[in-house]
Amino acid sequence: MHVAIIMDGNGRWAQRFGWPRLAGHKQGAESVRRAIRHAPCLGIETLTLYAFSSDNWKRPADEVAGLMRLLAHFIEKEVAECRENGVRLQFIGRRDRLPITLVPALERAESDTAAGRRLLVRIALDYSSRDMLLAALRPGMDREELSRTLGPDVDLLIRTGGEKRLSDFLLWECAYAEFFFTPVAWPDFSERDLEAAVNEFRSRERRFGEVLDTSAA
Ligand code: FPP
Repeated sequence: MHVAIIMDGNGRWAQRFGWPRLAGHKQGAESVRRAIRHAPCLGIETLTLYAFSSDNWKRPADEVAGLMRLLAHFIEKEVAECRENGVRLQFIGRRDRLPITLVPALERAESDTAAGRRLLVRIALDYSSRDMLLAALRPGMDREELSRTLGPDVDLLIRTGGEKRLSDFLLWECAYAEFFFTPVAWPDFSERDLEAAVNEFRSRERRFGEVLDTSAA
């Protein structure tokens, strides 16, 4: 199962306590750790996390710099545990605008965890689905080739923080995804919330455009 998460609500979570927005992102990184640890127990094989969209460059410079530092710190701290637990890390999105010191850290994290088979964690950085589509498309390409280039179809898309939009995330890959929106802010999103979303997904009937029950026809 492929689960993708739009981790929204960090800033508002922090502001509730009168804290700077970055405190929300810091706490959000803890939720990322929890989700990665718990995902395999729920039958999740691929987890794609929206950490920084190409539109996020428009945020105040100190918030952007803080997020980049947080990511670098997260990678430095988590790679060893990921490796021990069979977690493979990959990064999707543009790399040419990221801080110059972050790029080799991403590459090292990817190569150090490349043997992981229990869970694939894809972290979207400087990511825009429209840009990814434009970069991937070649004349004569068919659906399968494009899907192979972009990555697996999403089964379940979760967005925290109360908003109900896709925000240029995995537009092609979400063609048949089930959507789960929750008002819970990302820093508060617990193992139980992830489990509830997966259970709700399992209870839904996915028809992929077909009619599965013909008994009423
Ligand atoms: C959206 O909340 C969240 C982000 C733009 C950043 C997400 C980053 C993290 C969860 C932390 C680092 C990630 C990893 C992979 C370690 P928002 O700031 O838009 O919240 P708001 O809507 O309440 O303002």
